[in-house]
Amino acid sequence: MASKLLLWIDERFPLSKLFKEHLSEYYAPKNFNIWYIFGVLSLVILVNQLLTGLWLTMSYQPSAEEAFASVEYIMRDVHLGWLIRYLHSTGASAFFIVIYLHMFRGILYGSYQKPRELVWLFGMAIYLCLMAEGFMGYLLPWGQMSYWGAQVIISLFGAIPWIGEALQEWIRGDYLISGITLNRFFALHVIALPIALLGLVVLHIIALHEVGSNNPDGIEIKDNKDNKGIPLDGIPFHPYYTVKDLVGVVIFLIVFCAVIFFFPEMGGYFLEHANFEQADNLKTPEHIAPVWYFSPFYAMLRAVPDKLGGIIIMGSALGFLFVLPWLDRSIVRSIRYKGVFSKIAITVFAISFIALAYLGTQAVTESNTLYSRAFTILYFAFFLFMPFYTRYEKTNLPPKRVT
Ligand code: HEM
Repeated sequence: MASKLLLWIDERFPLSKLFKEHLSEYYAPKNFNIWYIFGVLSLVILVNQLLTGLWLTMSYQPSAEEAFASVEYIMRDVHLGWLIRYLHSTGASAFFIVIYLHMFRGILYGSYQKPRELVWLFGMAIYLCLMAEGFMGYLLPWGQMSYWGAQVIISLFGAIPWIGEALQEWIRGDYLISGITLNRFFALHVIALPIALLGLVVLHIIALHEVGSNNPDGIEIKDNKDNKGIPLDGIPFHPYYTVKDLVGVVIFLIVFCAVIFFFPEMGGYFLEHANFEQADNLKTPEHIAPVWYFSPFYAMLRAVPDKLGGIIIMGSALGFLFVLPWLDRSIVRSIRYKGVFSKIAITVFAISFIALAYLGTQAVTESNTLYSRAFTILYFAFFLFMPFYTRYEKTNLPPKRVT
């Protein structure tokens, strides 16, 4: 019966063909390590966000009068509403943790290098989309930090010469952040951005499967094939990596559930304390800080005395990530075989990013501003000097076959 049904489908839709191309006959390098779990985990969290978001929408009210109370209603009265809400709010932070590790893996193993530039660019588009999704989602509970965080970010657009004022008003749809802003953010958060995100993820994976996966050695497995044209160092994604990934997914879910059940707000890092008070446009919180995943860029913004200058720095911090494939001039991909300068640069880059993330959540003091400036310079040094240290440093000879 089952094989008859499959045949019936295959005559009308390329189900077996797709399964073969992307799973059972997609040959992935056999030396994937733990860094390679984060792509799959991103998919798992994406599904979590879509499902829990859908259920939240069933009880949430997108109006300035009712939004805050409807979230409280979800937390207290809706059956398992607290779980759905925490799966979604903690899920947002988990998404960014996993994405940052996924991106860092790409940087470690030079996965953005030729021929995977488009995989990287689609990834960066996903990252921007995800930031917009996180930002708009944070306004929806209509808490104090939702309101004032959005106020800070939207006011950044005001610093753009000539069009700034008008642009701010256009984004808000009003002279100040109001129910109108909440409504349009809701529409974008639940419809437009998720569709864009899903489309980009499909493009990301199609591009990856066109060129094949990179690996921790950064060498091309397609260069060594057997007489059937199958890479000698490749194994079929299914069943080998589907089963291996399942182990990673289960471990991730155990940790994720532990956080949801015991520290869903993570001491104010995942859900800020001020957000348990309803938005009040007459009462500015003493200390406005964005959620942690925006904080590296927020720290850079505050490190620059001029507002427009800060925005340019913030934009360039993202822009440099986009052009990474064209900054790296190394003849090897993986950090394993790059020279000592690359190793130092990548370590300094990672430390600066984490330090900036921390500084972005702290109050402005003279010393914090100084540290932020120093780490911003180090962050940019990684990119600005990359064409030179990757080109002129002494690299090691990568092996012919994966290790
Ligand atoms: C919703 C977000 C995302 C999802 C669901 C996703 C999914 C995946 C999956 C399933 C893979 C193959 C497995 C793996 O190599 O880990 C992959 C590979 C890759 N992703 Fe993503 N990704 C996302 C975001 C990003 C972002 C933001 C970037 C970087 C800007 C990125 C860059 C890459 C690169 C370079 C590869 C190839 C890695 C290699 O072959 O070594 N991805 N992605």
